[in-house]
Amino acid sequence: MRFTAIRNGAGRRPMLLIGALLAIAMAGSAGAAGLPQIVHARQAHFKALGRAAKSLRDQIGRSHPDWSLVASEASRIQHLASALPSWFPAGSGKGHGVKTRAGAAIWARPHEFARAAQTLLNRAQNVTRAAASHDPRALALGSRALGQSCGGCHRRFRARSSWW
Ligand code: HEC
Repeated sequence: MRFTAIRNGAGRRPMLLIGALLAIAMAGSAGAAGLPQIVHARQAHFKALGRAAKSLRDQIGRSHPDWSLVASEASRIQHLASALPSWFPAGSGKGHGVKTRAGAAIWARPHEFARAAQTLLNRAQNVTRAAASHDPRALALGSRALGQSCGGCHRRFRARSSWW
């Protein structure tokens, strides 16, 4: 009985090792099977971000902005901005067979990328304050600054084309 147990154990060990290595490889990066879903979800989040930013812009220059709408869009943008860095697991950029405009610089300069996401978050917070104080001028300035933080990140981290 004892010998059988040892033989079985020795036979299983290489499989266990391969399993463990696979688990390690996938923990820190996008597993091949999940990549299209990851990229699709990320692009859907950005579309939601785009809709919220447009909805804010539409309130600029009105004599009576809809302040509760402004507050809820700004809060939506804050949530999206805090989650943004998690939409980019290693291996989910260009060159992995999926159409994406996520540039390699995202993973080459992660701190700079995180700062760009933080800037978006800070600017959304400023818009939240503008909404709380019902200040149309602060809303205009804040929304423009917010839009610039989108462009600032896109210039550095979004590739021109989505083709791999
Ligand atoms: C920290 C960086 C960063 C910030 C800030 C940022 N974006 Fe982006 N955005 C990206 C990257 C990278 C992509 C490409 C994602 C992909 O193709 O996988 C993208 C893609 C998009 C897309 C295209 C989504 C699609 O259909 O494929 C839209 C729309 C968009 N962003 C809007 C915005 C708006 C609006 C803001 C500001 C309110 C913003 N983004 C802020 C990095 C950023």
